[in-house]
Amino acid sequence: MTLQIKEIDLAVDDLTSEAWLEVHHAANRHVWGGAAERTSIAEIVDVAERRHEVRRSFVVTEEGADGPVAAAQTIRRTRDNVGTAGLWLSVQPDHQRRGIGSSLLVHCEQVLRDDGCDRIHEHSGAPVENGDAATGFAHVNDYRQTLLDLRQDLALPVDEAALTALDPRPDPAAYVIETSVDGLPEAWLEDRALLARRMSTDAPSGDIDLDEEDWDAERVRLLWNTPSPIWGIESVARHVPTGRLVAFTDIVVRPGQPDLAVQSDTLVLREHRGRALGLAVKIANLRALQRERPDVTTVRTWNADTNTHMVAINERMGFVVTGWTREWAKDL
Ligand SMILES: CC(C)(COP(=O)(O)OP(=O)(O)OC[C@H]1O[C@@H](n2cnc3c(N)ncnc32)[C@H](O)[C@@H]1OP(=O)(O)O)[C@@H](O)C(=O)NCCC(=O)NCCS
Repeated sequence: MTLQIKEIDLAVDDLTSEAWLEVHHAANRHVWGGAAERTSIAEIVDVAERRHEVRRSFVVTEEGADGPVAAAQTIRRTRDNVGTAGLWLSVQPDHQRRGIGSSLLVHCEQVLRDDGCDRIHEHSGAPVENGDAATGFAHVNDYRQTLLDLRQDLALPVDEAALTALDPRPDPAAYVIETSVDGLPEAWLEDRALLARRMSTDAPSGDIDLDEEDWDAERVRLLWNTPSPIWGIESVARHVPTGRLVAFTDIVVRPGQPDLAVQSDTLVLREHRGRALGLAVKIANLRALQRERPDVTTVRTWNADTNTHMVAINERMGFVVTGWTREWAKDL
């Protein structure tokens, strides 16, 4: 077989970009069937700058094949953990098990080495706990598993009586819950930077050392308050005696799949744990999501299987396990 690997610019080349994305979508459908996630070129291009990432995209063609046979993107971080790259790689279902994935992987690993990275840290997911293609592929290519996440889905709407029954309603003299839709108030940004910094080290990362992320108000502003096709909603807990934000949770809705809300980060500062603030902000955010985006039918979240507390909170809210996500690492 004659394979050709070509770098493409997603922001410029529309037709090739859509064909590249369709490879990822087809591979995803092959794994997940009707439950496969979808994304869009607009959001892929949009996130890179706001997350301080440099992304390079590659397409693989083969003589005689109808369209590209594989697609990949390398993801290099420029603000922190700069040596640790991400990688997104898919092979057209009709062309799997022919060594194409392995060839493209070797190519991307070399690209990342040349770009100064010394490690890849990425994830793969499947609706089964064991025996999926990506797990076999990762093992045979010397990736080690660093974490197992459970994927949990919540069908919407959840009725108000169920939310009220679950809502821990913190003492209003101690904590108040506030919500912001599609952007954060300027007055939150300093506190949110501290919460994001803690988030980068407090959530279980498994068997890998990652540096604390360097968050300040400007970085929060760039991620949450610059125009973007991605819609977000956030709820926070404010500690009344000090006026500081001590917990947050956010949900995003992407244009590629507007009926799916993705639960992003949730954190309660260590010194304020044990007061059900995690549940309180999540319930507030869910209520607000249902009010603002009645078109959303599912909320999806991922948590380390060892994060039993968070998984149990989600189960109480009605989330059910719909998949398993493995995180992988390899030193280059
Ligand atoms: C994982 C994936 C990229 C593999 O692509 P591929 O071109 O089929 O991979 P290769 O042909 O190079 O396979 C190399 C080896 O990986 C392992 N492997 C690949 N698919 C496997 C499967 N379905 N079950 C078990 N092992 C598998 C095998 O050891 C295989 O060698 P063999 O065929 O000689 O037995 C492809 O299945 C895919 O696109 N999956 C969906 C997207 C994804 O999960 N990407 C990875 C995370 S970013």
